Amino acid sequence: MSTVVLVGGQWGDEGKGKITDFLAKQADWVVRYQGGNNAGHTVIVGDEEFKLHLIPSGILYKDKKCVLGNGMVINPQVLIEELEGLKARGIEMAELFISDRAHVLLPYHCRLDEMKEEKLGENKIGTTKRGIGPAYADKVARMGIRMGDLLDDEEFSDKLAQSTASHNEVLDGVYHLKGFDDQEIKNAVEEDLKKIKSAIQDTSVMVYDAIKRGENVLFEGAQGTLLDIEHGTYPYVTSSCPTAGGAVIGSGVGPTAIDKSLGIFKAYVTRVGEGPFPTEQFEADGESLREKGHEYGVTTGRARRCGWFDAVIGRYAVRVNGLSHAVITKLDVLGGFDTIKICTGYQYRGEILRDFPASLAKIKECVPVYEEMPGWEEDISGAKSIAELPQNAQNYLKRLEKLMEVPICIVSVGPNRDQTIVLEEMF
Ligand code: GDP
Ligand code: IMO
Ligand code: MG
Repeated sequence: MSTVVLVGGQWGDEGKGKITDFLAKQADWVVRYQGGNNAGHTVIVGDEEFKLHLIPSGILYKDKKCVLGNGMVINPQVLIEELEGLKARGIEMAELFISDRAHVLLPYHCRLDEMKEEKLGENKIGTTKRGIGPAYADKVARMGIRMGDLLDDEEFSDKLAQSTASHNEVLDGVYHLKGFDDQEIKNAVEEDLKKIKSAIQDTSVMVYDAIKRGENVLFEGAQGTLLDIEHGTYPYVTSSCPTAGGAVIGSGVGPTAIDKSLGIFKAYVTRVGEGPFPTEQFEADGESLREKGHEYGVTTGRARRCGWFDAVIGRYAVRVNGLSHAVITKLDVLGGFDTIKICTGYQYRGEILRDFPASLAKIKECVPVYEEMPGWEEDISGAKSIAELPQNAQNYLKRLEKLMEVPICIVSVGPNRDQTIVLEEMF
């Protein structure tokens, strides 16, 4: 038996969905522990492409139990749409469970997210506008509504009336907008609730008992290390903890319950939204990575910013997540470059920084120090083992391992399940 937490090692979109689905084959449980439908996880099975936002990427196997953990913020309408979309494609929700402690994301959160971004103008965060920040703000301000509250009509009515009134004050007073009608929100939620009521349970108990029985549990992170509210490029971050510690908080198990911490890294780096990105490439190299890697957002369709692999943030992710292993995805995208660059440190006022700084002003002054490695021409998307990769691709992987000081256990050379090279089994 094993328990593995899978986290994004960069700024999200590292291929977590693909790797979660791949590893889910051997897992009994797949547990999302933070975030909401700001996530967009792509899973390809045969000719079919699935884009998952709230539902764990284990749902595509019939026999897996999937959990939406207490650390998530859940928009019931989006959840129902996602479930119905899957159902229409023959995927049932028989074994999906929703934590009664997860927070409910409602229409006023989305409206406030939009308005806050608009007001920030040039200083905007570049959020997904899915209401994530305002929903977590309510949670921390102790005025959120939890999934379990929906099961008690009086409790839900009272909390919703209070919450709607409080948000309407802001919408009206600050943004001069018409507020929301709590009864309308309630009617819509109640309609959605009919379809998920029985799934709302104390999922911490379920996951704890599963671990005690020796079952395999995979905790699926959304977003990435550098988007973490604690460890990311604050304030250009999301409002939850995607890092490995978040799995403990967001699913209700203790740190001793987790055996392995797996960081997913693209073979280069991308970012959507605003904020620092030291190895970003603005010209031909960035454009090539974007086109070859089809780097457009799953949730918002925005073009992703692209740049070279940054071993400074790689080492940082190893440290703050206690990574036991790394997965490198999209190695195939680097084919055709004469030389490939890796950032090994940042030059800052005459010294070389090896650790990622907290200060955005400092990051702005940092100049990445690059090491160049020869690339390869071959199409590697059919490679079934490391030995089948061109020597230069093998050298690149070895260099990443050395720079990040973590062993690579999986290399992904394409979006499909069979385009996955396993060096070490996780379960
Ligand atoms: P996530 O948010 O971390 O799950 O990642 P996304 O799904 O947002 O973005 C990753 C994209 O890369 C998706 O379109 C995947 O289908 C695709 N992908 C995943 N792994 C590979 C790979 O090894 N090679 C290529 N070419 N595409 C991949
Ligand atoms: P997955 O799980 C990439 C980014 C947004 C913005 C910042 C805050 O697919 O990797 P938010 O809506 O969360 O308040 O936005 O975080 N962001 C993501 N970027 N992948 C994601 O999810 C993201 N979820 C949020 O672009 O910069
Ligand atoms: Mg994504």
